[in-house]
Amino acid sequence: MSSILDQPSMGDLQQCGHGAGHNYAKGSPHILHHSIRDRLVQRIHQMVGDVMNRNGRCRVLEVGAGHGCFTDHLLAAGAEVEVTEMSAPSAEFLRHRFRHNRKVVVVHDPDGDATRAGDPVDAVVCISVLHHIPDYLGTTGKLAGRVAPGGAFLSFQDPLWYPRRSALSMALDRGSYLCWRLVQGEFRRGLSTRIRRISGTYDEANPSDMVEYHVVRNGVDEEAIRSCLAASFSAVDVERYWSTQSCVLQAMGERFFPASSFGILARGRI
Ligand SMILES: C[S@@+](CC[C@H](N)C(=O)[O-])C[C@H]1O[C@@H](n2cnc3c(N)ncnc32)[C@H](O)[C@@H]1O
Repeated sequence: MSSILDQPSMGDLQQCGHGAGHNYAKGSPHILHHSIRDRLVQRIHQMVGDVMNRNGRCRVLEVGAGHGCFTDHLLAAGAEVEVTEMSAPSAEFLRHRFRHNRKVVVVHDPDGDATRAGDPVDAVVCISVLHHIPDYLGTTGKLAGRVAPGGAFLSFQDPLWYPRRSALSMALDRGSYLCWRLVQGEFRRGLSTRIRRISGTYDEANPSDMVEYHVVRNGVDEEAIRSCLAASFSAVDVERYWSTQSCVLQAMGERFFPASSFGILARGRI
């Protein structure tokens, strides 16, 4: 961890954005809306079941687990889980939460070291995490390198790559977000962040610009991730869906709006 005189590290910034008492549900469409949550939980069960059928067990590395909302589902599906967290308070929360569960190991990882070579795992899971990581492609490749033959890689809830989206798609997405901010009474904050984002000027010491790294910039390139994973998995599926914070706009968008987010499931590590 850096001293206060240094530029804050990504670990400092993530901890600032996900500090003690952070509410992971607020502002997280994949936790808030049952339609998205169900889709994700289904993928978790599909992935763990598939790996267990092939390998007899499923050792999962869950990167950036937050408060363990989806760790519960991995465990319910039969996995043993190593969870990592950049935020010390969140790692502490996880330690306390799973203190009686021997199938969970919690690692506080302020430097994002989960990418380093370590014991092989049967699956890597990143839920709403890749868009926080500046070099998400390099990270994906290294994490995939930790997966044992027959294993899987699941990532979910990242914004689709903006340059491939239409102006209408971006307008609906951003408009929905600002409407939600308005209801939260945080319209000015949302608007000032948006103006900074449009002008393309980022402050590396400002958590608003750094924590939601690729939401602020160009989104996450789902096709580049697909290509990266296709090199080492026999099947890679990308699923695109609409997601936003507001319940009303989520229901409306699922029927009428173009996709804004994606999940990716790679199976059959070669
Ligand atoms: C939006 S939250 C998602 C939490 C959880 N996965 C969920 O869906 O509820 C992103 C989390 O990833 C953590 N994080 C970001 N980059 C990380 C990294 N490289 N290694 C470990 N944790 C990371 C943050 O501290 C934060 O708790």
